[in-house]
Amino acid sequence: MGSDKEQGVLVTGGAGFIGSHTVVELLERNVPVIVIDNMTNATASKDEEELPPVLQRIKKIVNPQQGEKLHFIKGSFGDVELLEKIFTKYAISAVIHFGGFKAVGESKELPMMYYSNNVGGTLKLIQSMQKHNVTNMIFSSSATVYSAPGPDDLPLSEKSLTGSCTCPYASTKFFIENILRDLCYADKNWTVISLRYFNPVGAHASGEIGEDPKGIPNNLMPFIAQVAVKRREHLNIYGNDYQTKDGTGVRDYVHVVDLAKGHTAALDVLPKKNGFHTYNLGTGIGTSVLEMLKYFGEVVGRELPYKICDRRPGDLAVMYCDASLAEKELGWTATKSVKEMCEDLWKFQSKNPNGYLP
Ligand code: WQD
Repeated sequence: MGSDKEQGVLVTGGAGFIGSHTVVELLERNVPVIVIDNMTNATASKDEEELPPVLQRIKKIVNPQQGEKLHFIKGSFGDVELLEKIFTKYAISAVIHFGGFKAVGESKELPMMYYSNNVGGTLKLIQSMQKHNVTNMIFSSSATVYSAPGPDDLPLSEKSLTGSCTCPYASTKFFIENILRDLCYADKNWTVISLRYFNPVGAHASGEIGEDPKGIPNNLMPFIAQVAVKRREHLNIYGNDYQTKDGTGVRDYVHVVDLAKGHTAALDVLPKKNGFHTYNLGTGIGTSVLEMLKYFGEVVGRELPYKICDRRPGDLAVMYCDASLAEKELGWTATKSVKEMCEDLWKFQSKNPNGYLP
């Protein structure tokens, strides 16, 4: 007898930057989505009864029938009682696990908060999945699980050395990958695809959703965007004495919508796979800080102010990936250029100078 529960994919952290863009892609494929998010890293609605602004925006992007398939539960992915309610109410086919704290600097100051929330919470999530025989997961991992590469170690492939992480945040991603790998080894019913993001930037082409960091942005592109809308005076460039084309840090920037499509590609492949698999999601192209600043200024139509400062502790000179395995096995490749990343980010930021806040 078929289950009369509503089918769906559980998306933890679905109100966040990458989570929200992935929810759009899922809904546009008519996949019902249950978002669980405690809103610590996303803008909550003033009225508890209302959907958070980002989810209201998502409903504006998709069509009404697709919007009906979006369900939101406020809470933590590690809350066992809440998970019990969700797995009892819905027939969850897979979990896409974005949830977790992600600030590099904060993780150094509050490691136990990161280990408890990110690792401890994920253990609770896995146990709830096991109890309800849900054994498919896509895990939001990160390029930060890779050990610091030397010049001969680039581009980074999925076989590159991992571990010796530079901060507790990265260690949580590394530990969770190992937990999931060991789980899949012990229980052959499980399939896990771990997606290692390089540097996600940009926004949905509608300008409705994008990156809305709370407080001072840690990452380059949201900071540059806030300089462009004059919320910040100038960009601080953390070092211009690296062994790179112009002395500034080089990264593999990937459009957040490309990244979201990487998750739906992985979801399509999940039923045909078994065990634990990791894939880099990047472009394979390195772009420097000064280049990103120039490209964004071209989109905005004026040069953006910056100052050269000391290096940021823990920063690497160069990071970019070999994304050929994702292309081969997921049929995924990044299609959007750095210019499109800047155009879409600028459209979101100029339409929403204060992010999702009114
Ligand atoms: C990019 C470049 C900085 C800000 C981080 C995290 C990790 C990952 C991606 C999730 C570097 C320079 C930055 C600024 C600057 N996300 N920079 N001024 O450090 O590559 O990776 O985000 O896993 O969380 O490690 O990204 O955007 O912080 O820095 O000069 O105000 O921009 O030195 O060269 P990073 P980033």
